[in-house]
Amino acid sequence: MKIFIDTASIGQIMKINELGILDGVTTNPTLLAKEAKSGKTFEEIIGEICDVVDGDVSVEAVSTDATDIIMEARELSKISENVVIKVAMGKEGLKAVSKLSTEGIKTNMTLIFSSNQGILAAKAGATYVSPFIGRLDDIGHRGMDIVEDMVDIFDINNFESEIIVASVRHPLHVIEAARIGADVITIPFDVLEKMIEHPLTDKGIETFLNDWNKVKK
Ligand code: E4P
Repeated sequence: MKIFIDTASIGQIMKINELGILDGVTTNPTLLAKEAKSGKTFEEIIGEICDVVDGDVSVEAVSTDATDIIMEARELSKISENVVIKVAMGKEGLKAVSKLSTEGIKTNMTLIFSSNQGILAAKAGATYVSPFIGRLDDIGHRGMDIVEDMVDIFDINNFESEIIVASVRHPLHVIEAARIGADVITIPFDVLEKMIEHPLTDKGIETFLNDWNKVKK
């Protein structure tokens, strides 16, 4: 399973990238808006991320009409060859993804909340399909159920799109996604930090160091 980080913060991306475990990045308009406070333009932020990360970087097209989404995608993809265009699920989005896939522009169909939407995104030729599991959990549905369903469906039908488990809220989501066999999970920085930490590891390091220092004395 590939690990992407779900952030537009260059600081967070650099910290995780240096661990050698990062395969890509996903951003969205909300995450980019937070970084815009730095005074950098949106293109500068994306360019900086692409310079640092050796992998796909999803950037969302915000237009709502297929023709405009396609034009926006063509412009965004000029920023770097790492850029993947996120397109929201819907009729206009499907039209745009179908066209962009024929032009060789990579896409990530986003805001997927059902297996049916996932099937259509894959049929349209999306490079990635992103089910938002946390937002489903938030309204009382088991988000991971649609990931499980989509992994089976994509496998049986030889769909080429990769499934990105998105809207991740906690480390258990990561374990479940890996067990199900999702292609990718995009994880917020705080969840990645929680995955690294364990109180018994800290305690173990402290004990080993104390014991070693006694021997040296
Ligand atoms: C990733 O592609 C999504 O934009 C992101 O995971 C959404 O997460 P949220 O539901 O926490 O906003």
